[in-house]
Amino acid sequence: MCGIVGYVGKRDCADVLLDGLSRLEYRGYDSAGIAVFENDEIKVAKSKGRLADLAEKMRREGKPQGCAGIGHTRWATHGEPSDRNSHPHSGSRVTLVHNGIIENYKRLKDFLLSVGRTFASDTDTEVVAQLIDYYYEENHGNPVDAIVKAMKELEGSYALGVIFADFPDMVYALRKESPLIVGIGEDESFIASDVTAILQYTRNYYLLEPGEIAVLTRRGAKVYDLHYQQIEKELKTADWDVSAAEKGGYPHFMIKEIHEQPTAVKTTITPRITDGMPDLSECGITPEKLAAFRRIHVVACGTAMHAGMVGKYVIEKLAKVEVNVDIASEFRYREPLVGEGDLVIIISQSGETADSLAALRLAKELGAKTLAIVNAKGSSIAREADMLIYTHAGPEIAVASTKAYMVQIAVMYLFAFELALAKGAIDEAECRRLTALLQETPAQIEAILEQKDHAAQIANTLITADSLLYIGRGLDYALSMEGSLKLKEISYIHSESYAAGELKHGTISLITENMPVIAVATQQKLFDKTISNIKEVKARGAKVVLVSRDSYVPEKDVADFKFGLPDFEDLLMPMLAVVPLQLIAYYTAVLKGTDVDKPRNLAKSVTVE
Ligand code: AGP
Repeated sequence: MCGIVGYVGKRDCADVLLDGLSRLEYRGYDSAGIAVFENDEIKVAKSKGRLADLAEKMRREGKPQGCAGIGHTRWATHGEPSDRNSHPHSGSRVTLVHNGIIENYKRLKDFLLSVGRTFASDTDTEVVAQLIDYYYEENHGNPVDAIVKAMKELEGSYALGVIFADFPDMVYALRKESPLIVGIGEDESFIASDVTAILQYTRNYYLLEPGEIAVLTRRGAKVYDLHYQQIEKELKTADWDVSAAEKGGYPHFMIKEIHEQPTAVKTTITPRITDGMPDLSECGITPEKLAAFRRIHVVACGTAMHAGMVGKYVIEKLAKVEVNVDIASEFRYREPLVGEGDLVIIISQSGETADSLAALRLAKELGAKTLAIVNAKGSSIAREADMLIYTHAGPEIAVASTKAYMVQIAVMYLFAFELALAKGAIDEAECRRLTALLQETPAQIEAILEQKDHAAQIANTLITADSLLYIGRGLDYALSMEGSLKLKEISYIHSESYAAGELKHGTISLITENMPVIAVATQQKLFDKTISNIKEVKARGAKVVLVSRDSYVPEKDVADFKFGLPDFEDLLMPMLAVVPLQLIAYYTAVLKGTDVDKPRNLAKSVTVE
């Protein structure tokens, strides 16, 4: 959701900005722009649409030439996607790019209008540019002072890259809530919404904290607090290399990331297993702490919430601890019954999802302990939680989450095993057995990926559908939710997931030959019941795709297509069964010709509520 890149160095700045922005495309955007110092003057180029539209415009009208500047991809909030609403926005001496939302922009705009300022866009961002500009004029040209004064007035979330016409070859950066890093190269420095944007130039970076202001020059970057005192920052090194953020021969990031799942699971679980037993002690989780929790709440959004649904079934079954799963945007506003003795688990790939972050803060206020399961290192959720388990999926670029979900559920399993042991609900031998099975899942996933052509054939039968149902029971239902989300977000085919036993209570009236049903039936205890539900929809004309075990050979009246899975422990089947659901969604989208990695209207990292 909005991407920021800034550069000061010796390279062609416009090229660096465009390249960096292209690596942030996955965040979602609908317009783009850059501002570059050309012969000590700020030149702006911006355009509605994709980066290719901006590049084309610059080919026609001239590309700003210079070695310092800022760039932005905008995901519209205030004002439609258009050239005039695209960033950068300017006051008379100040030009900036912004990620986030200024909540009090109306009041600030009224003030600025009252002192004679005029506006050229409908955005909240232009208000920030004018406000900094106002203070800059008032203090006769001190950039940091102007920024600090404006920061004190701004409410909401922001990451800002700012340039001042009077200070060529310098870039200023600051943030509150929205992420921003400062990259340090040799004779060059960068700002970026995340490290993937600059990996091909440097892996060294500072994490900018709220209330810090970075001043970038060719010689590096200095970071100051609000009193203009320099802060010594720890230089971090990204452990991802540039290839992790490239397609590596795959046509889309999504299919690359689906294939990365076996490795991602191994990398995530291996350091958390000692002598065959789960060991989350490096994450601040001990058996004593676990034994004390009386109730668990999993709070997250979208796919991450679906991982929480799998976690609920697994934890309740194994550890006999009550688990509530909440959508973060609901949790934060419904006065949840959470308090001391409760553990609130926040799951997030990006670690920056605004609602999940707010839910984390609320849980802490209410006296609960918090555990974050996060993929993005150093993100806000990772930093604010009491305990932290990083998933090691590497960068996930496709908007549709696949490998992040896989490692989130892998972590939920490890957590459930250790919790169940700590609670005395399973013995050591059972814990060891389950852990060993979890370690087998990467090889099982590899084998399933070899059947991807079969998933593509199934997808081919779905592309004409307007609407689909996903059904399952128990863990298969939890999984159906994820399968359904995956399909709709990238193929634009409407779909819903339903608990198979709930169909008869209304939804079965939708079933016709035009409503395919994807039925997930892997749980042996519930198997016959799910098959009965499948027969009910089949009898009403639905085309049925069955995702089930190889060992089950369907009768004639059960399924039109089957995707078979190896026989494996019931409890761990979601790790395997999600793969065909991801592949079916992927190939359906490819066959429909949608923008698979960057589906319309979606942003990878939802940093506004
Ligand atoms: C799923 O494919 C989506 N990208 C979306 O549902 C995502 O899982 C959700 O926005 C939560 O994001 P997070 O994991 O970064 O918090």
